[in-house]
Amino acid sequence: MTSDVSPTLSRLLEQVRGRRARVGVLGLGYVGLPLSLAFAEAGFRVLGFDVDPEKIATLAAGRSYIDQLDGERLARAVADGRFAATADFGRLDEPDALLICVPTPLDPHREPDLSYVEATVAQIARRLRRGQLVVLESTTYPGTTEELVLPRLAAGGLACGRDFFLAFSPEREDPGNREHATTGIPKLVGGVDPASAELAAALYGEVFTTTVRLSSTRAAEAAKLTENVFRAVNIALVNELKVIYDAMGVDVWEVLDAAATKPFGFMRFDPGPGWGGHCIPVDPFYLTWKAREFGQRARFIELAGEVNVEMPRWVLGKLQTALNERGKPLKGSAVLILGIAYKPDVADPRESPAFEIMDLLLRWGAAVAYHDPHVPKAPRMRTWPELPAFESVALDDATLAAQDAVVLVTHHRAVDYERVRARAALVIDTRGVYRQPYDNVVRA
Ligand SMILES: NC(=O)c1ccc[n+]([C@@H]2O[C@H](COP(=O)([O-])OP(=O)(O)OC[C@H]3O[C@@H](n4cnc5c(N)ncnc54)[C@H](O)[C@@H]3O)[C@@H](O)[C@H]2O)c1
Repeated sequence: MTSDVSPTLSRLLEQVRGRRARVGVLGLGYVGLPLSLAFAEAGFRVLGFDVDPEKIATLAAGRSYIDQLDGERLARAVADGRFAATADFGRLDEPDALLICVPTPLDPHREPDLSYVEATVAQIARRLRRGQLVVLESTTYPGTTEELVLPRLAAGGLACGRDFFLAFSPEREDPGNREHATTGIPKLVGGVDPASAELAAALYGEVFTTTVRLSSTRAAEAAKLTENVFRAVNIALVNELKVIYDAMGVDVWEVLDAAATKPFGFMRFDPGPGWGGHCIPVDPFYLTWKAREFGQRARFIELAGEVNVEMPRWVLGKLQTALNERGKPLKGSAVLILGIAYKPDVADPRESPAFEIMDLLLRWGAAVAYHDPHVPKAPRMRTWPELPAFESVALDDATLAAQDAVVLVTHHRAVDYERVRARAALVIDTRGVYRQPYDNVVRA
């Protein structure tokens, strides 16, 4: 496709391959910050953009605010001039490549909220110049890049594929995963035209061990959603199995340990108190929404949603029954939530089922506290505006002894669960931490 290559494309390809192209990253969060560092460490000069002045100040001082991201790496990148952060969107014309990593949440009606993407694209469109590559990395429904981003960028008169270039390349970051560093995860790339695909693949090819080219941005958008739909549906399946086996007196974790010994044809997922995080409870609904436009219903996804959102109430039912057996009502009981991050060993509490559990407990009259070694303060959540501002309490003997029950929501490695069990009157274990039976431990 490079036979009638525009001079703009050839020049850009050359800059990319020489790692002289300047890279701009928009949105310096869990995704954008590690991505910025990956490019900086490969020798590119990176300019990060964010609307949050606090983040910009922290980064300018060479400090990281993501607990899994080594502060020293960031300090080094800032000190040697490879990475700088700014809130000045007037500088958007400086980078040759602009990678968009802003949030794509759901709105209050659980429909895609693309306002962050729209705002970012509007900023770019205002300053788009010849010779820029724009890549959307935010998770979204198939069609977003072509239907929403392309017309806005092309409105100024520049032609895509000749003057500027546009691609979609989904972020596959797994926060807290030490086994798979950002650059080792194969990078999917789809362009709106062949020139854009070639340029984007060349750029990521300098940094990522493997790049996988798809035929279109739609296919790349769908691939990312497929990965997260797969997780959402399988999490729902094991959660449903947990409830069924519990009624039969069968231990789901023993069953999963056994099934997982099969060397083929089985992939393990673990049940829990619901689903959480920025991606799994959110992204699948980008697909259900878009499917409706085509007269399609995404029934598996909807059902997975139903099963997973029921889990916090099911867990609390187990707590209520266990307290009842001990002659105690939930109302007035002291309950400690252990772990409020959405998954182990991270500090990210977004969409964690812990918040619904705390909200329900408070509404039913329990006295609630939490401990999480990674989350010293529970942030205010848009979904739970009535929850008070909580701070993590110490997990000392006095705290444990004062509880009527401890609900183990997230199993961080930093917690001594044997000590918790030995000191607490009752533990509701939603994660299968205790593999042997104990009188004061209830699986939920
Ligand atoms: N966190 C993950 O594990 C993960 C994994 C894969 C994909 N994703 C996807 O990546 C995208 C970003 O997620 P995240 O977890 O990094 O979000 P995040 O909330 O951690 O970071 C987003 C950043 O964008 C900034 N921002 C908001 N509006 C902006 C604007 N107009 N211009 C510039 N910056 C702006 C915010 O201040 C924030 O710092 C989402 O689409 C998400 O679905 C996330």
